[in-house]
Amino acid sequence: MHILKSPALILLAAIVASCGSNDLKESVIIPAPEHISFTAGSFNLNDGVKVEAEAPELAPAVSYFTEAFAAEEVPVLTEGPANVHLSLDSSLAEEEYRLQVKRSAVYASGGSVSALIHAGASLRQLLWSSDDALRCVNISDEPRFGYRGFMLDVSRHFFTVDETKQLIDEMALYKLNKLHIHLTDDQGWRIEIKSLPQLCEIGAWRELNNQDLECLEKVNTIADTKFALPANKIREDGKYGGFFTQDDIREIIAYAGDRGIEVIPELDLPGHSLCILDAFPTLSCSGKGGYWGQFFTTPLCIGNDETLALVKQIAKEIMDLFPSKYIHLGGDEVNRTIWSTCPKCQQRIKNEELSGVEELQAWFTREMEAFCKENGKTMIGWDEIAYDKVSEDSRIMWWRSWSPASLDHALEQGQNVIICPGEFYYLEEGQDRNTLSKVYNYSPLHTDVAKAHESQILGVQGNFWTERGASFDAMGERIFPRLLAIAETGWTEAEAKDFEDFSRRLPAHFNHLDAEGWKYRFLDIKGLYDKNVFVDSVSLSIDVPENTQLYYTLDGSVPVPPEAPVDGFDSSTTMLYTGPIVIKEDAVLKYRAYNSRFVPGELKVADFTKMDYSPALEGVENLEPGLQVEWHDFTDGKCVDDILKFPLKESFISAGISVPEHIKNHKGLIYTGAIYVPEDGIYSFYTFSDDGSVLEIDGRTVVDNDGMHSRFEKNGQIALAAGWHELKLRYIDPDGGILEVGFTDEQARHIPIPEEYFKH
Ligand code: ACM
Ligand code: ZN
Repeated sequence: MHILKSPALILLAAIVASCGSNDLKESVIIPAPEHISFTAGSFNLNDGVKVEAEAPELAPAVSYFTEAFAAEEVPVLTEGPANVHLSLDSSLAEEEYRLQVKRSAVYASGGSVSALIHAGASLRQLLWSSDDALRCVNISDEPRFGYRGFMLDVSRHFFTVDETKQLIDEMALYKLNKLHIHLTDDQGWRIEIKSLPQLCEIGAWRELNNQDLECLEKVNTIADTKFALPANKIREDGKYGGFFTQDDIREIIAYAGDRGIEVIPELDLPGHSLCILDAFPTLSCSGKGGYWGQFFTTPLCIGNDETLALVKQIAKEIMDLFPSKYIHLGGDEVNRTIWSTCPKCQQRIKNEELSGVEELQAWFTREMEAFCKENGKTMIGWDEIAYDKVSEDSRIMWWRSWSPASLDHALEQGQNVIICPGEFYYLEEGQDRNTLSKVYNYSPLHTDVAKAHESQILGVQGNFWTERGASFDAMGERIFPRLLAIAETGWTEAEAKDFEDFSRRLPAHFNHLDAEGWKYRFLDIKGLYDKNVFVDSVSLSIDVPENTQLYYTLDGSVPVPPEAPVDGFDSSTTMLYTGPIVIKEDAVLKYRAYNSRFVPGELKVADFTKMDYSPALEGVENLEPGLQVEWHDFTDGKCVDDILKFPLKESFISAGISVPEHIKNHKGLIYTGAIYVPEDGIYSFYTFSDDGSVLEIDGRTVVDNDGMHSRFEKNGQIALAAGWHELKLRYIDPDGGILEVGFTDEQARHIPIPEEYFKH
């Protein structure tokens, strides 16, 4: 159809054209800006810069720009005329900015000081691609979501004011604007409460707990020094911990505020409150706190009026200290069992005409919500509180990725939600080669209800729980680069996101993180599998990622660079990779990348097995296309060997390896038949599954991805003669899940297996 262009359309086209093309692919900026166009010429950096603003309230933005130039070694002038000009522009939205680099000067304007700091962050990243001169450019940019957060758990392991400031610097650079600090939990109380000094005296320091010992065990077994408990957090009496004084908190808030970041405190109630009970045991139902089972601790006795008075006293000091309009009051993971036998809790249930312990917690949540409102604050809670009949004003943090119903429920009730699903945005979780793309491609409009209620999605947040993150380096390795992926999801419009382009921009950011002394997760080393095979010998050429050095052993010992010895480890057989490694006999390659400070990456193990090409099957003429599948009603169990304990539900033929639509749960699937390979060769396979999967070919385990686990990829190899080979694949998941199986190439890319390669 031919559309006659209206004058308005022609005008619109002219405006779009005047903005120039979008040169996103020429920039390394993360999060990707809305619009960037490079123009002819450049701004000379050698002569130095002087930053100036029209209004005194822009001082934090002037400092941010000045420090950005200084950090990138651009001379900063104190005399003479300014050549970097900052201004407010009331026609721009609050976080919207414009940045213009011209030949003679740099101009930034924004809807607020925070918007100008975002302009400064973009400018700093532009400097990474500049030596003596900054390319002329026009950027216009604003965020997709107003809430772009990071949560730091300082309870399980404490982080100092200086460490928190370093984190804030990175948040500002990636345009994250909310720092949620998880200040209290069972394992540590980290905030001075002036009227109740016992909380810190008792709760801020601990004997080493199981999680601390697990960290230390890693130092002892795999020589990973990131897990050593930081010496500056161990007191003279041997106790471990620390806390923020109120002055420390004010210092953090001011530092963050100068970088456009709001600090939101969390006081986790009425579970996760062992530190309160350690200081005030009579506020528990039984007279003392402790663990209930492996994970949960005794909650506060909320039948007791003294408990309410005390938690309000604590909350009031915290509210007075933090200027944020928000206070997070937890509400997650409460084991309510003890309330059902506590006379005080039962009396409260009776007096308030509640149906039981669930409504008792809801009553407490509403009490605290009212207290927040009286004090001019908005309550945030974990998504459990979505069922507590709180008002529309309270905010919900959706973390239970396995419960999309609670997200929908909150939205349908009219609440505003912050998206931080555990499976995607919990940054302490383990990482494999798929994790970064999985986090990057996660859509915060996760359900149909979320799509329909988009305006109630305030934004996104990456959470870092520190049970296993004792040190600053351990934090860095877990949060970077995943936090950059979340930052881009929070800032950049969904249609403009592109994982391949994000990956292209990453190395510049790794250089920056290196320069700032951060650890980050190194890129995967490609071409090495969990199980590798060879026929005569193999010569391994390894593509070592930039900024890293690879150390390895072939004698089974843990690699430890001689330059960075670790007590109790012999580094005499550790070698630095400098060129191909030739393997002629069965071997175990243990390898690990290190950064320039010799902070290690993950320890990886690759088995090498010598084998002949497994001979092809004979007599395959009568086989039919597809694979035979048996579905067993797998309701629980631990591994693929358990499948046969469950009754057969259905047998069918599948064209390839996929799970039919109608099999949603209780998956105990066994695929059998034959697989074809066109020529003699070493074939690499992967399985990506949740939960377990095991692939066998010609009776030999090729990929062992067994066990109950979330989405995880494993891979392996086998040498096969041209022709057909016996195949058996077993897959389990009692509840939901995913299964993918395919070939991989040398770059670890997935290659589907053609359906005509299967017969039964
Ligand atoms: C949580 O992870 N318990 C909020
Ligand atoms: Zn009680």
